[in-house]
Amino acid sequence: MKKVILATLISSMAMNVQAQNISADHQEARSIVKEFGGQLVPALKGAMKSGGPVAAIDVCNTKAPAIAQDLSATHAPWQVNRVSLKPRGASATPDAWETATLKWFDEQLASGADPKKLEKFEIVKTGNQAVTRYMKAVPTAGLCLTCHGSEQKIPQGVKAKLAELYPKDKATGYQEGQIRGAFSFQKPAN
Ligand code: HEC
Repeated sequence: MKKVILATLISSMAMNVQAQNISADHQEARSIVKEFGGQLVPALKGAMKSGGPVAAIDVCNTKAPAIAQDLSATHAPWQVNRVSLKPRGASATPDAWETATLKWFDEQLASGADPKKLEKFEIVKTGNQAVTRYMKAVPTAGLCLTCHGSEQKIPQGVKAKLAELYPKDKATGYQEGQIRGAFSFQKPAN
């Protein structure tokens, strides 16, 4: 019994140490991810249910960028965005750091990591400028395949609407469990 209590104590101490090791910026970035997902996912699911996938494209097309803008305003100076190695949205093309991080996420996934837990927090220095950067992987769920899956999974109407809105769309051909992209946030570090 004593041993159990001691083990519990030690493990809860270890957890506290871990929480303390994460900087305030890192914690804030994690909470912005929660807010982003907490607003977007229910809106997407609701629109899919009530209007079907073609109508739901509008949520992703207008609401996702609007949420990113709102969060950038409320959490300034953080700049909030989403990126992908196969981008669809106008602002989704990754820069060099984001590309490297997305590739690292894919490598981690291939070596067995849980895609839901993949994140990267780093202070990136270029010359005498430092930028605090954070990325969190976005895994592909079953629900996503209607608009991001293989040719056969995407209904004809969705294909037509996507082609109209995103003539350069690269964001299809995904399978469940793959990494669709990532949340990507940055702000000046000094
Ligand atoms: C109804 C269609 C639809 C569904 C379902 C959908 N998406 Fe998207 N997704 C889009 C559209 C449209 C965009 C482009 C948004 C924009 O213009 O910024 C997009 C963009 C994204 C982006 C930003 C990167 C990029 O390529 O633009 C990510 C990440 C993403 N989707 C992940 C997901 C995930 C994960 C799911 C499932 C939980 C999902 N999507 C379900 C239509 C959809």
